Amino acid sequence: MAPAAALVLGYLLGSIPFGMILTRLSGAGDLRSIGSGNIGATNVLRTGRKGLAAATLLLDLFKGWAAVALAMWLFPGDQLLAAAAAFVGHCYPVWLKFRGGKGVATFMGIALALCWPCALVYALVWLGLLATVRISSLAGIAAAISAPVSAAWFGDFSVSLLFLALALIVLWKHRTNIDRLIAGTEPRVGSKND
Ligand code: G3P
Repeated sequence: MAPAAALVLGYLLGSIPFGMILTRLSGAGDLRSIGSGNIGATNVLRTGRKGLAAATLLLDLFKGWAAVALAMWLFPGDQLLAAAAAFVGHCYPVWLKFRGGKGVATFMGIALALCWPCALVYALVWLGLLATVRISSLAGIAAAISAPVSAAWFGDFSVSLLFLALALIVLWKHRTNIDRLIAGTEPRVGSKND
């Protein structure tokens, strides 16, 4: 019973599309018909609303953290299931016909709850690349790849395995970004062609 409840809790929390909700409430329209069509903070930024993008980033991060923290409290031992379900919920929400986000912020929230040193490495890689290279997808992909590696270093084998699975989903969700990165056409944050 507890594993099923942890899965449902995680999925329901993870599947809240904060970017879409905030963008719609602000009057900027349907995020899926703006920019890349993604429901994450990078695409919210393309509406020109920086505060809204920051709020999306924090809320997407928070729901990953909250899913794990609540599962640790309510269903101890099933927090990895809740983490996986929250991530799948974000990337494949039933409410949006399974067309969800790319997982970068939610992954960091999950890492924060399961392995805080991993989250620190994740944030350093993500923000470091974002500040220097200014390509959001590249920064997110590199941060995601860092997570299973740092989890293997800082602790738990099962957490590392979970992070490996999440990183593979991040790569899959970024497949069109990866094509553009290889072609050299992926836009930089704030650039004219973004
Ligand atoms: O976290 C999403 C980001 O990595 C890429 O977003 O909208 O440029 O495809 P986008």
